[in-house]
Amino acid sequence: MTPTPADELAAEGIGLDDAYAVDGPDANRELYASWAETYETVFLAEHGYEYHQHVAAAFCDGENELKGPVLDVGCGTGVVGAELARLGVSVIDGIDISPEMLAKAAAKSHDGNPTYRQLFEADLTTAIDLPDAAYAGIVSAGAFTHGHLGPDSITELLRVARPGARCSIGINSAHFEEFGFGDWLAEREAAGHITGLDFELRPMYSDTESDNPDHWTRIAVFTVT
Ligand SMILES: C[S@@+](CC[C@H](N)C(=O)[O-])C[C@H]1O[C@@H](n2cnc3c(N)ncnc32)[C@H](O)[C@@H]1O
Repeated sequence: MTPTPADELAAEGIGLDDAYAVDGPDANRELYASWAETYETVFLAEHGYEYHQHVAAAFCDGENELKGPVLDVGCGTGVVGAELARLGVSVIDGIDISPEMLAKAAAKSHDGNPTYRQLFEADLTTAIDLPDAAYAGIVSAGAFTHGHLGPDSITELLRVARPGARCSIGINSAHFEEFGFGDWLAEREAAGHITGLDFELRPMYSDTESDNPDHWTRIAVFTVT
């Protein structure tokens, strides 16, 4: 779908208030269809987005050697994949509900090759059509936030992660508190489904407001057992 100049002008005004006002898959599809064109060039650029760098750094800081593909959850236009590729991760798949955002991710390349091996269009509030134990790593930035994904969506991610998979999942810090992500993940650890659970508090933007929980991410880092 080629945006008209009017679409682009309208999209330039899209920002955090619009992202946090959506609720559920259909509203997300609609929002990101109109935002894809200017998401990186206007929104990320204007705020000095650094969320993707923190998620990728937390993932790559792991001591266990990566032996397989990584799934970027809610990959959007692909900035997390680009950062992972820059840090040396070679096989990256992406999954997202928005075909317009995925089209941007598909255009990304690293060292002359596509950044993403495969891209899947899917609604992560439902079961996803990926096999068990397919991934050696799971990363996510920006998808676990108001009106997007809650803790239950992590259940499917644990299914597609193989034993030993490292996870680095960024969660909007207000959303984290509201939906009890801390307890939810602690219960999975107590049940033996994950291990080494840790949370890294990081700013999302270079212009992050220190007292605004919507400008901070709690990155849940753990290993799937
Ligand atoms: C704020 S963007 C983050 C994109 C990218 N990870 C980044 O860091 O720039 C949130 C992404 O989550 C996706 N999303 C929202 N709801 C979803 C759902 N139910 N299933 C899959 N993806 C979803 C959106 O399409 C969008 O691309």
